[in-house]
Amino acid sequence: MNLQLATTPWTEAAGDWLIVGVPEPFELAGPLGALDQALSGQIARLRESQDLTGKFAETVTVPAPAGIRAKRLLLVGLGPADKIGDASLHKALMTAARTVSAKKTERIAVAVPTAGLGDLSTSRRVQITATAFSVGCVGQDLNRAEKKRFPLESVDLLVETGQEMAKLKTAVEAGTILGEAINLTRELVNQPAMVVYPASFAQRAEELARQHHLHCEVLDKAALEAEKMGSLLAVSAGSDQPPRLVFLEYNGAASGAPVLALVGKGVTFDSGGLSIKSNENMLTMKCDMAGAATVLATMVAVARLKLPVHVIGLMGLVENLTGGSAMKLGDVLTARSGVTIEVQNTDAEGRLVLADVLDFALTKGAGSLIDLATLTGACVVALGEEVVGAMSNNQPWCDQVLAAAKAAGEDVWQLPMFAHYDELIKSDVADIRNIGGKWGGAITAAKFLEGFVKEKPWVHLDIAGPAFASSDKPHREGGGTGWMGRTRVEVARAFGEGGGKK
Ligand code: BES
Ligand code: MN
Ligand code: ZN
Repeated sequence: MNLQLATTPWTEAAGDWLIVGVPEPFELAGPLGALDQALSGQIARLRESQDLTGKFAETVTVPAPAGIRAKRLLLVGLGPADKIGDASLHKALMTAARTVSAKKTERIAVAVPTAGLGDLSTSRRVQITATAFSVGCVGQDLNRAEKKRFPLESVDLLVETGQEMAKLKTAVEAGTILGEAINLTRELVNQPAMVVYPASFAQRAEELARQHHLHCEVLDKAALEAEKMGSLLAVSAGSDQPPRLVFLEYNGAASGAPVLALVGKGVTFDSGGLSIKSNENMLTMKCDMAGAATVLATMVAVARLKLPVHVIGLMGLVENLTGGSAMKLGDVLTARSGVTIEVQNTDAEGRLVLADVLDFALTKGAGSLIDLATLTGACVVALGEEVVGAMSNNQPWCDQVLAAAKAAGEDVWQLPMFAHYDELIKSDVADIRNIGGKWGGAITAAKFLEGFVKEKPWVHLDIAGPAFASSDKPHREGGGTGWMGRTRVEVARAFGEGGGKK
């Protein structure tokens, strides 16, 4: 898909669609007024009949409009002008992108929503538009003959004249890179576990690393054994698919800059192991590598954006099955750090994988860490399907991550990490156990992880809710969502700009 800037007046824009955002309420002045005039007052009549109000994510299609060059017009509601932010603009434009990509379409023009909307700068609005159209026209029908979404060939982003075009061009590129990163995450999540398994994921990471000049190391089973990663290896023992750990590094910072570590849970399929899941709960478990997919996509995006930051990405890749060598309840594992773990539920496998990967990240020089994992159903119970849970051992670092999420327009909510939760993961036979009892499951999982980061600033993001959507919504396709990709790139940007200081 080609996205390019254009200063063509809206009425002159050629293509299958002209897309225009309208706030609630709206005035027929400026370019919208000119459009209304060209359409002989049709927009005024739609407003009069309340068919067009500007209500958030409302869509009104005008086919074969006489008086403008585009073949169809799509008006999309942006909601109250003073409430428009990154998240809502992204959602409204995603709705528009999904509407127009439902049919084969070659060329469209999008009027980048005009100034006076909240406090978004023009380049921010251009960037969000580019991301939304890159993502919104890609479906989850990779393996269907009959497609539900059709990629757009060419998108003109219409901006007012008199803008700093070079700056806006950078914004188009940044928005496209971000959109492509989200699509990469979605694709990896949407592919079934028979396609995306530890070795194939690692191979894809190697290819991408080569393409984007990232340093890449892949640890195979023998290397993981040599590293004594007894906790990660126990999870993969029940599967014929051998495990992998992928390590990626990008250094765009001055020498001596602190290292940001991104760690992802990459359970390419989670059957639950011997503590096997019900059919219903297992059905979507190809998504259990969404954390690792987001880390990979973020590393690619950071390299393509050439951010001035030193960042390492680590992905722990395993399959959690029930084979004859599977770990058993009561087993005592020795993690790479030397901590012993009593297995009380083989379905609490994500923390076992991350324990060793977090420890390895410290060896690789991690200064500040963020892990991303589809870790607990309990987090979805606590916060619902659309909100990420954040847990941390360091409030300033957590505040930085929360600020980045806010800037990126993704909803994250912090959960407490009081010391008394530590009691819940004590074991009678080992240093700790891998479950924490009935209550506070998202937090006890985080408490488990905390023991492996040796007091380095660390934020754990539980994405079990938002990473995978079981059905379509007007603003997004079902399946992998690529959630937290925007936040992660924003964190890396801020980390680099702040010299990585807390
Ligand atoms: N991968 C699951 C968590 C999950 C649930 C992700 C729903 C996405 C959607 C994780 O490995 C798991 O099974 N967690 C258990 C932990 C429990 C056994 C302590 C859970 O949440 O039930
Ligand atoms: Mn599990
Ligand atoms: Zn899992």
